[in-house]
Amino acid sequence: MTALLTIAIPKGRLETETLELFAAAGFRLDSQRDPRQLACFDEAGRTRFIFVKPSDVPVYVEHGIADCGVVGRDVLFESEADLLQPLSLKIGSCRIAVAAPANLPENGHTMLRVATKYPRIASRFFGERGQPVEIIELSGSVELAPVLGLADCIVDLVETGRTLRENGLSVTEVIAESSAQLVVNRASYQLKATVIAELISALKGVLDEVARASRP
Ligand code: PRP
Repeated sequence: MTALLTIAIPKGRLETETLELFAAAGFRLDSQRDPRQLACFDEAGRTRFIFVKPSDVPVYVEHGIADCGVVGRDVLFESEADLLQPLSLKIGSCRIAVAAPANLPENGHTMLRVATKYPRIASRFFGERGQPVEIIELSGSVELAPVLGLADCIVDLVETGRTLRENGLSVTEVIAESSAQLVVNRASYQLKATVIAELISALKGVLDEVARASRP
């Protein structure tokens, strides 16, 4: 089968909502799909979905392996990939925030130790304020770092706020709001203009319908 389009889907927190949105727009996956199968076609056989780590979506799309992808703005802020962002998908709303223990003790240094999966966002944020920081890059369970004394605070994604609460942390500053975006490879946008325009229009139709239905 030759796909007209290849779309990179982020595994994890955005995956289900993304697939529901695409299904509503007419790009439906086989419901019996084995979740370990990382590349598969939609029912119509015209679109190939690949399932990758969220931070890898910009990489696949920038290199043209995928024509399009779905990715949170948090990942896009962190990535330096050159991508088109034609549509905000209004799913996966969350915040990128600084969080710290309520009784943050003085660490005795002028340098604030910040644990994060988002080293660029954190450096930029504190750099703009002239606050010297030591960035401690982690790849998950970032909330543990202040609890165990590895860092003074964290920069992380906050959705429900539950992980922060469960670990005795609270938001001290919101850096940015985030939600999922459709991203498109620059060359694909030209070479597959018709099929990509159809995809954007179908997704937009679903989003408009959802917005209409939720209006009082
Ligand atoms: C994210 C984020 C927080 C948590 C926030 O982690 O880094 O840890 O979700 O969600 P909440 O506000 O709804 O509690 P993720 O689940 O992606 O796992 P990770 O820690 O392994 O990166």
